[in-house]
Amino acid sequence: MSGAMQGADTTLRTEGLTKRWGAFVANSEVSLSFAPGARHALIGPNGAGKTTFINLLTGGFAPSSGKVWFGGDDITALPQHERVKRGMTRTFQINTLFAGLTVLESVALAIQERRGMQYKWHQTVAQQSDVIDEAMALLASLKLEDEANSITRSLAYGKQRLVEIALALATKPKVLLLDEPAAGIPSAESKELFEVIAQLPRDVTVVFIEHDMGLVFRFAERITVLVGGKVLVEGTPAEIAADKRVREVYLGEAEHE
Ligand SMILES: Nc1ncnc2c1ncn2[C@@H]1O[C@H](COP(=O)(O)OP(=O)(O)OP(=O)(O)O)[C@@H](O)[C@H]1O
Ligand SMILES: [Mg+2]
Repeated sequence: MSGAMQGADTTLRTEGLTKRWGAFVANSEVSLSFAPGARHALIGPNGAGKTTFINLLTGGFAPSSGKVWFGGDDITALPQHERVKRGMTRTFQINTLFAGLTVLESVALAIQERRGMQYKWHQTVAQQSDVIDEAMALLASLKLEDEANSITRSLAYGKQRLVEIALALATKPKVLLLDEPAAGIPSAESKELFEVIAQLPRDVTVVFIEHDMGLVFRFAERITVLVGGKVLVEGTPAEIAADKRVREVYLGEAEHE
């Protein structure tokens, strides 16, 4: 019962989440809350355990100890697809199958998958047009409508990353997890990508990992700094920018480059 009460004000939270591989501790006692609708960045040096944490949230990895709560329920033991059904999703790189389809076809397939329909040519026209309408609305919200009939793999990388986000949004998530969504794309495009992410509806909580501090401080409302698998500090961008320990971590990192 108490879990259900807690779920009323918190979409997603972890409690003492720990992941070990042998003697190596990748995440240690990570307890975090992600407020509904938050734009929450996870930052930290390479190897800090950020991706590991996302995998513990999605069910990609089982924790060594600790718990994951979502909407008031303990979901620590739930398989990945069940978490997606409940509304937690992450982006995946477009696979070769999807890359050869048009953007509209890919997103329509993802919507049909969520609706539990098989792709059938003899579907009623009404069912099909309903899916196409939803797909086009989603593409419009991501400023991808001009690309609807382009083959995904022919698009610029920034647009391909947006298609990955569209495919994740097709599952109607409450929480969207983005692990370096702008990795490998030119900085002008990454700013555009984050502008689109920032405009996602407020009923979607966005948790993102990003190394570009310009983007982090511009788009995050809350920042958690992970170092050595542990939470170093969490706060508003202003609090994080003023934190001496955070500066030490990043100055320390800069010296190695
Ligand atoms: N499957 C695994 N088996 C063993 N060790 C792993 C595994 N996955 C990650 N690690 C180790 O856990 C540590 C944290 O890795 P993780 O990928 O979570 O870091 P990160 O913060 O995402 O780093 P980056 O910013 O470089 O992406 C690293 O030292 C990594 O080598
Ligand atoms: Mg990573």
